[in-house]
Amino acid sequence: MDWGMKNRISRIIKPEAGRAVMLAVDHGYFLGPTSGLEDPGKTIKPLLPYADSLMVTRGVLRNSVDPQENIPIVLRVSGGNSIVGEDLSKEAITVSIQDAIRLNVSAVALSIYVGSKYEHQTLKNLATLVSECEGYGIPVLAVTAVGREMVRDAKYLSLACRIAAELGAHIVKTYYCEDFEKIVKTCPVPIVIAGGKKIPEKDALKLAYDAVNEGAVGVDMGRNIFQSKDPVGMIKAVRDIVHKNVSPEKAYGALKL
Ligand code: R5P
Repeated sequence: MDWGMKNRISRIIKPEAGRAVMLAVDHGYFLGPTSGLEDPGKTIKPLLPYADSLMVTRGVLRNSVDPQENIPIVLRVSGGNSIVGEDLSKEAITVSIQDAIRLNVSAVALSIYVGSKYEHQTLKNLATLVSECEGYGIPVLAVTAVGREMVRDAKYLSLACRIAAELGAHIVKTYYCEDFEKIVKTCPVPIVIAGGKKIPEKDALKLAYDAVNEGAVGVDMGRNIFQSKDPVGMIKAVRDIVHKNVSPEKAYGALKL
């Protein structure tokens, strides 16, 4: 692995603890004005001091994030679908490598849909993206998106994570589930977990705690942070869990709900 690639990965997975708190705000690429992200700039700004990196689309980055912010960017570069469209798995690569470099990103992110109608297309997207990004030392984060018909269990997610790694993804983002350790053991690259739909804060903090204690390097969390009644408190609590191994109970106690 070359210097640039290693340097960019260390901007996302902090070398001090080998952990990562990524703030995911890319939902609008297929969900439109997601609850809590109607005015993305307003939502993102107070959370940035506690995030190690920001996962975002090109449009929100350009329009809603101050270029003087010192936050590593993980740019979503797949899309072309919508919640009301034909099939969520019908994704293409939506940003050129030149534009990603122009935006000074630390990594790019793309979804794969193993077992879905357009599985092949999304896996080919990943392989193509990795091949292009290798030439510029830009890491690729693969998101194991789960179609409505798929079960989020260790059998399915370990299949999807391993395929992502085999095709060259440098980091994989997946879901926490029972027997999560099995997924970690069979995936040769670092794993971060998504938070998923909004759940009670106590449960979301336990999810983060369990994930890192079972081998995830961190979280790439969105709705459970920005849809909380205390978004800043929530990201601080997640940060304490991921970086300091604080218990979920203690982290929860500091929230203003
Ligand atoms: C979905 O594909 C997006 O990548 C989201 O960023 C991801 O699901 C993480 O956000 P959340 O924690 O809200 O699930």
